[in-house]
Amino acid sequence: MFRSKSSPSAESTAGTVKDFGYLPENVFYFDSACQTLRPQQVIDAQSEYYHRYGACGERVKYAWGVKVDDEVADARKKILKLTGKSERDYAVAFTLNTTYGINLVLQQLPGKDFERIVTSEIEHNSVFLPSITWSRAQGKERVVLPRAKDGSLLYDVKKLDRAVALLSSMSNIDGRKLPNARSLAQDVHREGGLLLIDAAQHFAHGIEEMKDVAFDALFGSGHKMYGPSIGIIVIRKDLIRRLDLRFLGGGTVNDVRLNDFDLIDEDHELHALLETGLQNWAGIIGLKTAVDWAASYRPQGGNPQEYEHTLAVQLFEGLRKIKGLTVFNSEASPTISVYSDAIDAHKLSLYLGEQNIMCRSGYFCCHYYLKNLLKVPPLLRIALGLHNTPAQVEHFLATLDKILRNT
Ligand SMILES: Cc1ncc(COP(=O)(O)O)c(C=O)c1O
Repeated sequence: MFRSKSSPSAESTAGTVKDFGYLPENVFYFDSACQTLRPQQVIDAQSEYYHRYGACGERVKYAWGVKVDDEVADARKKILKLTGKSERDYAVAFTLNTTYGINLVLQQLPGKDFERIVTSEIEHNSVFLPSITWSRAQGKERVVLPRAKDGSLLYDVKKLDRAVALLSSMSNIDGRKLPNARSLAQDVHREGGLLLIDAAQHFAHGIEEMKDVAFDALFGSGHKMYGPSIGIIVIRKDLIRRLDLRFLGGGTVNDVRLNDFDLIDEDHELHALLETGLQNWAGIIGLKTAVDWAASYRPQGGNPQEYEHTLAVQLFEGLRKIKGLTVFNSEASPTISVYSDAIDAHKLSLYLGEQNIMCRSGYFCCHYYLKNLLKVPPLLRIALGLHNTPAQVEHFLATLDKILRNT
């Protein structure tokens, strides 16, 4: 089994990032596409809730509950602002994660209003599988379209006729975005369809790009944007009203009779129809803090996106120079996948793990695209986050190079 013989000491190469100061210097976490690490401020905000006002929200009149309500309302506002949407037209609901949010909305869409579901080849299973189950349950056509190298959806407008288009705005394999999202939204709407966006990866890497995209619903995960494990749905209020709501319970009704009930109908409370039962208040408060943190964070005195891009270019260029490695990405991105014909990615991940370097291996829940369409071997994924430093990237590249040389 590989052991690094002469790698520089981790301590001397790691560097530290202030808001992640709790991390030991000799750990190298490159799995931010799965879960970003949490800055100290986010951890503190959740502790503060548990220590100082750990009550229920949206049901109680006493002071702790009022404080929870204020924080949660603020969290909704901040998510709307991030995505450039107005309170008049959109609501923000919290769920378990992106997967749950997609299923919750999609599986309650009235099938009679639509002809087909349209998705793409590169989608995560959290999009791919619900698109299969919805089309089966509704007896509707399912269309799987290709994406261009830059991530643009390649489509014929005729296929959008009364279509539910369900697509990611950033890939978890190589960071490809959806540059034609704006025109796609216009085309989908002109044809009487809906645009549902899986933005699980996008929230931490330039979600502002969705501000001028008139999506009908957009899904994200707090744990991929420096927040706690929680899901986000940004959804048009008129779409909530169209749903055939079947997941109901506490918090969703105004009145209940023996065999009947009245659902919440007030415009400012429509999110509650997607938030059945008691919510993860600490998670919502932590998420709000993560949004504030990301807005004010200045890594090395600069913009987080630029900092991340510098790291991504360093990683991409470095990987391209390593002999025996195929880089899956066509351009630099915070999420880069590679493979080697000489050594299986799972073994690579194991050897890197022995050096405290954490990277994912496999098909990253994109089985159809990677395993069955492209037929590539399992990949190694290096996913950068704002806690990473140029020294860490350098150390990673040197260690990977040594492993491959020793294979
Ligand atoms: C593009 C994409 N969509 C959806 C998901 C599912 O996210 P979650 O596991 O938070 O539901 C992921 C998770 O990695 C993802 O990368």
